[in-house]
Amino acid sequence: MLKKEFKEIYEKVEKLMSEALKDSAHPYRTFSLATIDEKMPSLRTVVLRDFSLQENYFDCHSDLRSPKIKQLEKNNEFSALFYSSEKKIQLRFKGTVEIFHKNSITKQRWDSVTPSSKRCYMGPYNPSDMLEEYHPNIPENVQFKDPTDQDSLSGYNNFVIIRCHFYEIDFLKLMYSGHQRCKFIFNKEKINVSWIAP
Ligand SMILES: Cc1cc2nc3c(=O)[nH]c(=O)nc-3n(C[C@H](O)[C@H](O)[C@H](O)COP(=O)(O)O)c2cc1C
Repeated sequence: MLKKEFKEIYEKVEKLMSEALKDSAHPYRTFSLATIDEKMPSLRTVVLRDFSLQENYFDCHSDLRSPKIKQLEKNNEFSALFYSSEKKIQLRFKGTVEIFHKNSITKQRWDSVTPSSKRCYMGPYNPSDMLEEYHPNIPENVQFKDPTDQDSLSGYNNFVIIRCHFYEIDFLKLMYSGHQRCKFIFNKEKINVSWIAP
């Protein structure tokens, strides 16, 4: 059982993240996902695609061929950063990822990806590859139109869900009277939470 003050923060996190799933303009709709590239941190912006506070995970989608997937296959630890300048709330998550590729979850999710977004997974080049000259990395026949279901099958082969299982949330709310900061640690069914110095 969380104390009232922490329960309020927990519910706030749940509300903000759930709103972001429904609203593409929400500040938490995109976030920075950090992975480890050998010994270097590597960061990129990704889109929030699913979230469950009870089950301690959130998802983003990506291309199997991208460097982040290679990095995560070597070291599955991640850190993720969300910030709302309107709410002045920063959330930092830590945990480990699971990559879903061509399973029942990706199959169902692929059906909800818009045809225009499906094109992002159909590129002839591996994302982040060096190019001799500019190329949008979208097949020519669908550069200016949506692909048919048949066209986009090649995209499904590259489509992955990065499921970020988090074990920690560092919550920080900026306030004139003194910032509010606490850390939630999730351990199986148990949640430990304590104030930390802002
Ligand atoms: C607003 C925005 C949203 C993005 N969303 C995603 C995304 O959901 N998944 C993804 O793989 N890349 C996304 N990207 C591109 C990544 O930031 C990155 O450039 C690309 O995935 C290559 O990353 P990597 O070389 O670290 O694998 C997005 C970029 C921007 C600017």
